[in-house]
Amino acid sequence: MTEMLELMKRRRSLRAPYDPGRPVEPEKLAQILEAARWSPTAHNMQNFEIVVVDDPAVLDAIARLERPVSETFVRENHAQLSFSEEELVQRKTGILGTTFPPSWRKPDFKLDELSADEIAAMRRPLLSSPLLLVVVYDPSRRAPASEGDFLGIVSLGCVMENMWLAAESMGVGLHIVSSLSSGGEVKELLGIPARLTIAFSCRLGYPVSAPPPYLRVRREVADFTHRNKYRD
Ligand SMILES: Cc1cc2nc3c(=O)[nH]c(=O)nc-3n(C[C@H](O)[C@H](O)[C@H](O)COP(=O)(O)O)c2cc1C
Repeated sequence: MTEMLELMKRRRSLRAPYDPGRPVEPEKLAQILEAARWSPTAHNMQNFEIVVVDDPAVLDAIARLERPVSETFVRENHAQLSFSEEELVQRKTGILGTTFPPSWRKPDFKLDELSADEIAAMRRPLLSSPLLLVVVYDPSRRAPASEGDFLGIVSLGCVMENMWLAAESMGVGLHIVSSLSSGGEVKELLGIPARLTIAFSCRLGYPVSAPPPYLRVRREVADFTHRNKYRD
């Protein structure tokens, strides 16, 4: 158990650029997909498909797609940012503001203020990725009597975590890229039928250089545990 918990704690978002010349070994990719295969899903509906993208031309085309950021994202994101490590430690949730482009750190940021450099910096990680896994949600494989297919959506989280832990256990970096889920361009590029939805995408690989450690915080167990009765 200690080993398992250690792996869970070690798993992290590796947002650094990956070495495009160092592909994820086919046997490691096979293990990551095997981990997805054995994910628990509600009613064992296995409500997902995975598009493996490793063709540099396709990766390049995806990276070059316009990925519009919504004002809502920027506003809500800003509310969750901490601007110092001390603040993050105290809040125990959210992310350090330095992981976002400088202009986003202003509360009154307007999207048209995003500079060409910042746009280029946001695209860079994807451009350098040798492998992208696009996990697709199939709403027709729906768990019975689940309102809004809530259980099906939870199941996709199990797929994500299984793959992430498998990748981490083999030393493969992984970064979730939610922005590829919105808009229809990625679906179109990959020939994903309209009836399916991109649940999440993750890029995998090995960082060009060892990424600096970054502060990761969590609430204490006591903060989210309610014994016998929920307390507000
Ligand atoms: C459903 C989901 C969506 C996420 N989307 C993104 C994303 O678009 N970009 C990103 O950099 N990280 C994304 N993350 C990673 C989280 O920000 C990250 O897991 C969290 O900050 C904790 O950090 P850690 O993964 O290093 O433990 C996502 C994670 C989950 C579970």
